[in-house]
Amino acid sequence: MTLSTSTHLTARSRSNTYSKTPKVAIARFAGLKSVGVAPAASVSFKSRSVALAASASRTACATATTAGFKVALLGAAGGIGQPLALLLKMNPMIETLAVYDLADVTPGVAADLSHINTPCKVTAYKGQDQLAGALAGADLVVIPAGIPRKPGMTRDDLFNINAGIVKSLIEGVAANCPNAIVNIISNPVNSTVPIAAEVMKKAGCYDPRKIMGVTTLDIVRANTFVAEAGGVAVSDMNVPVIGGHAGTTILPLLSQASPSVAVADPAAMTTRIQNAGTEVVEAKAGAGSATLSMAYAAARMAESVLLAKTGEKNVVECTYVESSLVEGLPFFSSKVVLGPEGVAEFLPLGELNDLEKAGMEEMRELLTKNIEAGIAFVADNA
Ligand code: LMR
Repeated sequence: MTLSTSTHLTARSRSNTYSKTPKVAIARFAGLKSVGVAPAASVSFKSRSVALAASASRTACATATTAGFKVALLGAAGGIGQPLALLLKMNPMIETLAVYDLADVTPGVAADLSHINTPCKVTAYKGQDQLAGALAGADLVVIPAGIPRKPGMTRDDLFNINAGIVKSLIEGVAANCPNAIVNIISNPVNSTVPIAAEVMKKAGCYDPRKIMGVTTLDIVRANTFVAEAGGVAVSDMNVPVIGGHAGTTILPLLSQASPSVAVADPAAMTTRIQNAGTEVVEAKAGAGSATLSMAYAAARMAESVLLAKTGEKNVVECTYVESSLVEGLPFFSSKVVLGPEGVAEFLPLGELNDLEKAGMEEMRELLTKNIEAGIAFVADNA
C-alpha cells in the first residue's frame, strides 16, 4: 500500500469534517437533503457511506483515491461477492480492488466493475494459481467465499465444505499478505474464524487483532427491526449484538439500544434477530441466503476497518474475534474500537438485564462447540 501524506490527510480531514458537521458534509458531497446522523462511528455508517460514495463518484475524488488501500475480495463472483465488490468499488479509500474467484465469470465481473467511473482500480484473478497475485500487498482481505444455506440447514451444515475453503484461502493470506486485516463472512463464522486463527498460528504469523468475523449484519438487522418497533428513525438506531453469528449465539443487547426503545416483547424481538438469516433463506426458497444485506453489512465493516487504518479515532464495531472478555469463550463478538492494526481496544459488555444474562448462558454450549470444531479441523487437516 502506498499512503502519501497528502492523501492520508485528505481522508482524515474529510471524515473529521463530517463527523463534526455531518449534515453540511452530506449535503455538500451528495447534493442530498441533510439527514440526521449520530456522531459515533458505529452508528454513522450511513452518513459515511453516502458521503464517501458520492464523493468518489461526483466530486473531490474523481481522479484519485484518498488513502491508497488494496482490498482483496475472495469469492468475488458469488451472491455476496458481486454486490460487495460494487460497494467496495464505490469506496474512495480503496485504490485497488482485487477480485478473486474460481468461477469463469470472474474476469467479466472485474470488467463490468471497471467501467464504473470511480477511482478504484479493479483487477481480476481467477483460479487457485492466481490467488497469490490477488493477495500480494493487500491491506484488507474480505472473504465471502463458500456455499450458502438452503432451507432446513443450519450454518453448521456448511462446515464440511466451507471450513476447507477458508483454510486454504487463509493459507494464501499467511503466505502472501500476513500483515493484512482479514474480514471473514464465510459461514459458519463461529468456526471459520478459529480456523483462520489456527492456520495463521501454524504459519507463525497470527495477530489476533487482525482476524475478524463479520457479524455486522446482525447489528444492521437489529437496528432495522428495533427502529421499526419503536418508531425511531433507523439511521439513528444503534443496537449492539454480541456472542457469535448463529442461532442463540446471536445476542442483541436490546437494553443498550441507543436511542433507548421500549420493545414490547424483548424475547420475541431477540428471536426475530437470531432467526433473521433463516428468514431470508426460507424466503429465497432454495436459491441461497442473504446476499444484498450481507454485502451492505460487510461493506460497512470494511469501511470501518479502512477508516481506522487511516488513523481515524473512535471507530467502533461489533466483531467476532479472539477475546478474553467472557471466561470460557475464547472467541466472542463484542464492541471493539478499531485502530490501524485492527482491534485496538475491547469495550466492556456493559450491564445486561435478566433476559440478556440468560441469553449469555444459553449460547455457551453451542459457541464452545463451534469454536472447538474450528480448532479441531485445523489440527486434523494438517
Ligand atoms: C445471514 O445471517 O444471513 C448469513 O449468515 C447467511 C445465513 O446462512 O443465514
